[in-house]
Amino acid sequence: MSFRVAILGAGPSGLAQLRAFEAARRNGADIPEIVCYEKQSDWGGLWNYTWRTGLDAYGEPVHGSMYRYLWSNGPKECLEFADYSFEEHFGRPIPSYPPRAVLRDYIMGRVAKSNVRQYIRFNTAVHWVAHDEATGKFAVTVRDLKQDELSTEEFDHVIVATGHFSTPNAPYFEGLERFPGRVLHAHDFRDAREFEGKDLLLIGSSYSAEDIGTQCHKYGARSVTFSYRSKPMGFDWPESFAEVPLLTEVVGKTAHFKDGTSKEIDAIILCTGYQHHFPFLPDELTLTTHNRLYPEGLYKGIVSLANPKLMFLGMQDQYYTFNMFDAQAWYARDLMLGRIELPSAEAMEADTREWVAREEQVADPFEAIDFQAAYILDLLEPTDYPEFDVTAVAEIFKQWEHHKEADILGYRNKSYRSTLTGTLAPVHHTPWMDAMDDSLEAFLAEGKSQPAKERA
Ligand SMILES: Cc1cc2nc3c(=O)[nH]c(=O)nc-3n(C[C@H](O)[C@H](O)[C@H](O)COP(=O)(O)OP(=O)(O)OC[C@H]3O[C@@H](n4cnc5c(N)ncnc54)[C@H](O)[C@@H]3O)c2cc1C
Ligand SMILES: NC(=O)c1ccc[n+]([C@@H]2O[C@H](COP(=O)([O-])OP(=O)(O)OC[C@H]3O[C@@H](n4cnc5c(N)ncnc54)[C@H](OP(=O)(O)O)[C@@H]3O)[C@@H](O)[C@H]2O)c1
Repeated sequence: MSFRVAILGAGPSGLAQLRAFEAARRNGADIPEIVCYEKQSDWGGLWNYTWRTGLDAYGEPVHGSMYRYLWSNGPKECLEFADYSFEEHFGRPIPSYPPRAVLRDYIMGRVAKSNVRQYIRFNTAVHWVAHDEATGKFAVTVRDLKQDELSTEEFDHVIVATGHFSTPNAPYFEGLERFPGRVLHAHDFRDAREFEGKDLLLIGSSYSAEDIGTQCHKYGARSVTFSYRSKPMGFDWPESFAEVPLLTEVVGKTAHFKDGTSKEIDAIILCTGYQHHFPFLPDELTLTTHNRLYPEGLYKGIVSLANPKLMFLGMQDQYYTFNMFDAQAWYARDLMLGRIELPSAEAMEADTREWVAREEQVADPFEAIDFQAAYILDLLEPTDYPEFDVTAVAEIFKQWEHHKEADILGYRNKSYRSTLTGTLAPVHHTPWMDAMDDSLEAFLAEGKSQPAKERA
């Protein structure tokens, strides 16, 4: 084929795009010339743990936001690839909430079996993307980090898969600069043991706050105080936890909150989310959005309304992850291969407005799950992505929500049934609160997991 595609990033979304082309090639299709640029030295995106924070060895911003002892915060049955079950990868059923290293192994297992690594230029950071109106082509300028050399190549399509949970949103609070303890953003959090015996203040009331707070508790923090802007998480927290309104100022070691209360604290972690940040895109091509289910400016949640040859993967807030990235990648691939035709610019804008308006009607997490399921079904309909029961997965997500409400420190001990294999996951050999070793070897320790007794 005579056109060229640049994929920016080799995390789960970029890898989904490579895998989608590979599936077409194996079915006899002629595929374009592909180059995938990745600034890390390996594939896997956020799932690669790094001890580094700040800048990497070459002065690029460290991408990683994951930390030690991170376990999946959703059931693995909700993120299974339709063409590669966990059971196929591990050769047997495994419990529902694996730690990071196990999920990484699974994600990489599928791509390792294809021959897509050849397309990736590692240690190569994308620095600029320019579009030439006259030729219709994109010029992608990258830096080979090892050689410290800039170069530019031309492409017909650009797929942005650089993630959006890496550049911190870090608000200022009065007195932070004089606080005598550690102040950090969740992006730079690495090891809960640092906070053993400490009184912690976490700002934010979403997944990072919940997970970092429970993890610090697990590894010995004395107390965890969550400070919320809009509303508390409202879980049935054990005694050493508290949820309080927003921080107003810090005076010495004392944090003051909007309701007039205060608390002595040793460290502050800003769990205040991330920015969609594309320093390599000019204003006219960039995507400006907050973390939402249907970012404005993207037809089908993928195609840039500013230039339909520019596409974005994985830019939504995420219930569904890996299988949603697949659905997007298969759709994007079929657009590029001419199997799906784009409607007029007006029709794309109208369709996008309709989905955005529909998202604005979403009232709670259960409706949000249904919304994202409907979005994925819409994407899958015209593609040949292997069938998977999106609606049954939505039901598992809803059970997960109930299990969290019932027991925020114990929900990871639950088991769910794979919609692909029909197998009910075994119960992990150690309750999550007691499972201090998050290695793949400890998690998979042969014969130790017990069959689940009840139907999930
Ligand atoms: C703390 C945390 C925990 C999470 N836990 C879960 C979980 O348990 N389960 C789950 O399903 N999801 C989880 N997620 C969601 C996560 O976003 C997805 O699982 C997934 O990693 C997103 O894949 P991605 O490829 O879109 O982005 P990323 O994984 O962020 O990958 C983007 C890639 O682009 C590369 N890149 C960025 N900029 C450039 C550049 N300029 N040039 C070249 N390369 C570049 C990066 O190095 C990276 O490899 C978690 C997210 C966070 C932050
Ligand atoms: N173990 C795991 O698997 C795990 C762990 C951590 C994170 N994650 C993933 O990481 C992703 C990101 O989660 P996240 O929690 O970092 O981001 P997020 O879901 O976007 O939430 C951001 C939080 O920051 C708050 N916030 C933003 N600006 C603020 C301000 N100026 N002042 C006070 N509060 C402010 C928001 O409050 P409002 O509600 O008021 O907007 C919200 O509570 C999610 O996909 C999640 O699944 C997974």
